[in-house]
Amino acid sequence: MARYAQPMQRPLVLGIETSCDDTACAVLDGAGRVLASVVSSQLAAHRPYGGVVPEIASREHLANWPRVSAEALDQAGIRLADADVVAATRGPGLVGALLVGLSLGKAIAFALDRPFHAVHHLEGHLYSPFLPACDAASPADPIPDRFVGLVASGGHTTLFGVEGERIESLGETRDDAMGEVFDKVGKRLGLPYPQGPRVDELAEQGDARVHRFPTPLRGDTLDFSYSGLKSQALLEIEKLERTRGSQDLGRLAARETAIPTAVLDLLAGFRAAAVAQVLDRLDRLHERRPIPLLAVSGGVAANRLLRRELTGWAARHGVVLRLVPFAFSGDNAAMIAYAALVRHRRRMRDDPFAAEAESRIAI
Ligand code: KG4
Ligand code: ZN
Repeated sequence: MARYAQPMQRPLVLGIETSCDDTACAVLDGAGRVLASVVSSQLAAHRPYGGVVPEIASREHLANWPRVSAEALDQAGIRLADADVVAATRGPGLVGALLVGLSLGKAIAFALDRPFHAVHHLEGHLYSPFLPACDAASPADPIPDRFVGLVASGGHTTLFGVEGERIESLGETRDDAMGEVFDKVGKRLGLPYPQGPRVDELAEQGDARVHRFPTPLRGDTLDFSYSGLKSQALLEIEKLERTRGSQDLGRLAARETAIPTAVLDLLAGFRAAAVAQVLDRLDRLHERRPIPLLAVSGGVAANRLLRRELTGWAARHGVVLRLVPFAFSGDNAAMIAYAALVRHRRRMRDDPFAAEAESRIAI
C-alpha cells in the first residue's frame, strides 16, 4: 500500500511503454512524483539472437504485462481504477511491440472512461531529465520554456529545440544512431547484447590517444553521422586481428578473459570520437544561438565519458545542464507518464480510438 509521506496529488497518471524490448509501467502523481516505475527487460529472450527479434518482443510484452502492471500498481499503492489519466507510447518503435502497450492503454482508458494520451517516444525521452532521481518524495521539475534536448539512444541521435509547445528537430543522425554503433562494435568483439554499456566500461580502461578517429560532416550542419566511425572501428579490429597472428578477437571478448590492452585502447578511441562529435555539434549550435539549458536523455546518456565531457562543456559555456537520472536513461514508462502529464496540463488529449502505432513518426 501507499508508502509516501506526501499526499498524492491528482491526476494520477498510468504510463505504458512497449516500443522495443522493455515492458514498462509507471504511475506518476500530478506533481510528477514517480510513485512506481517498473521495467521488465527481455534481454534473456533476445540474447541468443544478438539483438532484438520483433516478434519475440511482442509476445514477451503480452506475457509480461500482467506481472509488470500489478507490480507498478502495488508499488504506487493504488488500484487500476484510481488512474485519472492513461498514456501509452504510440511510436516510433517496433509496430507489433507498440501495438501491445497502445492497445492496453486504449482499452484501460475506454473501460475507465479516462482521458488518453498517445505519447511520442522521443517526447518521453526529451522531458525525462526533469524527472526526479528515483525518489518518490520529490516532484518532477517543470519543463522550462526554452531548452535544447539531446536524445541519444539505440535508435536516435537527435538535437531538439524546444520553445513552449513547439518541438523542432535541429539535427539528427543521417545513418546509424550513437547507441547502435556502440552495440555493433561490441557485437564484433563478441560481447553480449546490449553491448553499449560494456563497451563503455572497457573503454574506461583504455587510452584514447592510441587510435584517433576523425569527426565527420565538417561544415555547419547539426546532423550526426556514425556509420563511418563504426566502419573505421571494425576495420581497426580486423587490422588488430591480423597483427596478432589472425587471433579471433570476437571469440576472445565473448569469454571476457583478459581483454588485450590494444582492444581497450581501440574502444577508448572509438568512444572518444563518438562523444567528440556530440560536443562538436553543440559548439556549432551554441555559436549560432546560445543554448540556455541542455537536457540530455536516452540510453546513451548513461555513457560515462559523455556525462563527464558534457559536464565540462556546459560549465565552460555557462549552459545549465540536466542529465537524465540513471534510472530513467533507458526506456521506461515514467517518462511516458510525465510527457502525458505535461500534455494533460496543456489540455491536449487523444482519441483512444484514433491513436495508431507508427514505426516512424515526426515528433
Ligand atoms: O533509450 P534506450 O534504452 O532504447 C532506445 O530507445 O533505443 O537506449 C538503448 C541504447 C543501446 O544502444 C545501448 O547500448 C545504449 O543505449 N547504451 C549505451 C550505454 N548504456 C546504454 N551506449 C553507450 N554507453 C553506455 N553506457
Ligand atoms: Zn528509447
